[in-house]
Amino acid sequence: MLHDTIIVIDYGSQYNHLITRRIRDLGVYSELWHHSDVCAKLKDNPHIKGIILSGGPNSVYESNAPTLEIELLDYGIPILGICYGMQLLAYQTGLSIKKVLHREYGRSEIELTHSPSLLFQNVPSPTKVLMSHGDQVENIHLPWIVDSSSTTCKIASMHHQTLPLYAVQFHPEVQSTDDGMTLLSNFLFLICKATKSWTMDSIIQEEVKRIQDQVQDHHVLLGLSGGVDSSVAALLLHKAIKDKLTCMFIDHGLLRQDEASEVMTSLEDSHLHIIKIDAKDRFLQALVGITDPEDKRKIIGTQFIRVFEEESRKIGQFRYLAQGTLYTDIIESGTSTAQKIKSHHNVGGLPKDVDFILVEPLKTLFKDEVRKLGVALGLKHHLVYRQPFPGPGLAIRIMGEVTPSRLRIVMQSDFILREEFSKALLNETVWQYFTVLTGVKTVGVMGDGRTYEEVLAIRAVHSVDGMTAQFYPVPYPILETISRRIINEVQGVNRIVYDITSKPPATIEWE
Ligand code: XMP
Repeated sequence: MLHDTIIVIDYGSQYNHLITRRIRDLGVYSELWHHSDVCAKLKDNPHIKGIILSGGPNSVYESNAPTLEIELLDYGIPILGICYGMQLLAYQTGLSIKKVLHREYGRSEIELTHSPSLLFQNVPSPTKVLMSHGDQVENIHLPWIVDSSSTTCKIASMHHQTLPLYAVQFHPEVQSTDDGMTLLSNFLFLICKATKSWTMDSIIQEEVKRIQDQVQDHHVLLGLSGGVDSSVAALLLHKAIKDKLTCMFIDHGLLRQDEASEVMTSLEDSHLHIIKIDAKDRFLQALVGITDPEDKRKIIGTQFIRVFEEESRKIGQFRYLAQGTLYTDIIESGTSTAQKIKSHHNVGGLPKDVDFILVEPLKTLFKDEVRKLGVALGLKHHLVYRQPFPGPGLAIRIMGEVTPSRLRIVMQSDFILREEFSKALLNETVWQYFTVLTGVKTVGVMGDGRTYEEVLAIRAVHSVDGMTAQFYPVPYPILETISRRIINEVQGVNRIVYDITSKPPATIEWE
């Protein structure tokens, strides 16, 4: 780890990844760590400048509540406790915590004391913050000093008189805390004295070196999908090992209409050596009779690897397989800190017996960071800002079995949706949009006859990194046009619904 780093210790809050994001946005590298064995891991990392204890759903008095390794306070590394993190710092240093009568959730106003800590430099008083807690610090005494209070929370933040310990009951990482970024920036630069080094140029230099060190003189095969992640990974690899890189684009038959030819055309002048493999029959065959979402993902992940193995053997010797895996894919596929949500095809969906050593230069980055990297590496604008498309493709937009006729419905309806979004210029503002075959059949009437056909859903979301998303309020007239066109032009659908769920509680894809 070369960059000054801030560690976010995961106590289970839904905002954890956001804290990491905000710190990176401020130009400092940050990682999320599980709350156990922190001291042991710290010993090998001289670049760690600060630690943030995240919020979490527990109460410090619960018997199995996660705790803080108290020796951590002896390291002299500044610590900021947020919400549950504050309660842990307080409780484990002898302060008492109380349950509030009604759980507080929402914006509230805090007043700063006369001389709050450095954390509050340039923060006005009063200021609005987001509170979300059931417990709070009850009483305070030296060496702890109160920094701010609200009407419902007497000790809204505090700092330690002699040790570099700071704590806030509210969430500085969310947008509804007005001065949250100032506060985090004060923690990074005034308190931790971290250096701003997390820039695109430094990431490129570092990753190129890391790739060269990892693969030495070997040839590398790269799984290219034409999406921004694998394209950026390809450019980085190419920068690092030039013509020792071979890109393989597998058409698994689950791509969007015309996608295979579009991908090949748009990367034509990229200097990348790309081989296209038609593996449609094989993937569709492997999916016959499969309805479980995780099974689908794992079968597709396995097929990808098997095709890479078989096809690469025909053209040479490849020990390494490069992929555009993102930090998000790793978090959502389940890590020691995060619960598994779904097996992303290039992480949890991989078979156990992979013949390659993986090269994953983007695995610490979020989607928007990869886009910035794409710009810095000269990737074409339309490839950088292409909407995300999952590796398992349309298979995870078909609830139930993937059959040729159901695949046709999703492909054609998705094409219509994309056409109408482009006409309305929504493709420039909406992060991701697609259609989903819901697996439900309903009764309809067409002409004079009864129909009993499938229900198709439209999904359109706004997001920054795919970790959270809000459903996009597509204007009704546009939805109406799309609905009319799909019903008229796509055989097998008689009803269209619009998905108005955000993430959480839903995910972006339906499976
Ligand atoms: P979810 O559905 O988990 O998706 O909210 C978050 C973002 O990730 C994309 N996605 C994937 N991308 N392989 C990928 O490369 C996958 O297995 C995969 N599953 C979901 C999804 O389209 C969204 O942009």
